[in-house]
Amino acid sequence: MASSLFGFLHGTKNIQLGIDVGASAVKVVAVENTSKGIKLLGLGWEETPPGAVVDGGLSDTRTITQVVKSALEQTKIRYKGANAAIGLRGINVVFKRILVPFQGMAELPKQVILEAQQHVDSDLEHWQIDYEAIGIPNTEGQLAVLLVAAKRAIVEQYVEMLKQVGVLPAVLDCDAFAVSNSFEFTQQDPEKTNLCVDVGRDTTKIHLTVGGQSSIIRSLPVGGSHFTDLISRQLNVNHNEAEAIKWSIANPDFAAGHPDVVSICQHHTQELCEEIKKTMEFYSGLETQSAIRAIDAVVLSGGGSVVPGLSEGISSLLNADTVYASPFKGMNINPKIDENVTSRYSHQFAVAAGLALRRAGDRT
Ligand SMILES: Nc1ncnc2c1ncn2[C@@H]1O[C@H](COP(=O)(O)OP(=O)(O)OP(=O)(O)O)[C@@H](O)[C@H]1O
Ligand SMILES: [Mg+2]
Repeated sequence: MASSLFGFLHGTKNIQLGIDVGASAVKVVAVENTSKGIKLLGLGWEETPPGAVVDGGLSDTRTITQVVKSALEQTKIRYKGANAAIGLRGINVVFKRILVPFQGMAELPKQVILEAQQHVDSDLEHWQIDYEAIGIPNTEGQLAVLLVAAKRAIVEQYVEMLKQVGVLPAVLDCDAFAVSNSFEFTQQDPEKTNLCVDVGRDTTKIHLTVGGQSSIIRSLPVGGSHFTDLISRQLNVNHNEAEAIKWSIANPDFAAGHPDVVSICQHHTQELCEEIKKTMEFYSGLETQSAIRAIDAVVLSGGGSVVPGLSEGISSLLNADTVYASPFKGMNINPKIDENVTSRYSHQFAVAAGLALRRAGDRT
């Protein structure tokens, strides 16, 4: 699968850090590659101050540097100098499955660059480009390629932030790839068709993979904050009150006494499901349509994925089983890590875990 966008430096330590700088929280996963497999060394979670991460870009780099540092401190490992992988999302990264005229592998980079300009909104020199060939050339001599472009200015922001933190910017990836990478690590059969759905604060990232290859990858403009906003508007309460109400809705006693909130919750999950459906239909070509009909598993992750009814809604929409991501399955977990976090809240670490499993220069 198309994976890390760009390999940077190779650190000297065997520790690998996955750093997920989300709009609502920074999540950190530290692993070590040992002879007995992957060891989970530590975890960190620190709230992102409002407005510090906007559309995936860092609007307040100094603050984010401090937030990432305190999330890393929570891992209780010596993280300085370790390899770090970071995920991009939002308007600063473009994914497109494109067809390029195939004139041999040696010519491919040039052909991709020629095509790439049509898919980004400014001069190509402002973008860092990567790609992954998918399958073999068709009968018209065209090759399908997954194009990934990231805004250089944003890449530089993240690299600078990581240097300030004291870690090595080893891998730059995308959230949507990272969740699939994490799921593949925990899954036995790589030939399956899987849809990963990561519901963050402002956006939901979806990634359909068929036999390990990317098929549909999109970022939808609906996330957990959509639910909060609905509660705030319809019940006329402020943001913090709405957020607290949202977190209570999974409690059956609370739900029984608040049919109005239950109905807002249904409205939110319906809208999110509709958005997923619309996107899947819009971006599916002939071969993806059959893949969508044969999805083996829908994997839910992200803090916004735990709202009642979402799992069932997606399951009936796509006629497929849904599971919550458990990214630490198969890892040798440091016994000092709070078991509650690795079991109850592990779905929130799917992006960071998928990032931590990357190696510098890795392409699988
Ligand atoms: N138990 C819960 N019940 C309902 N919503 C929750 C719960 N836990 C977290 N959330 C919501 O999940 C969202 C944050 O999830 P997450 O940490 O995955 O986002 P993020 O990675 O920071 O955002 P993004 O990926 O958009 O940058 C918030 O909207 C938060 O209110
Ligand atoms: Mg996220």
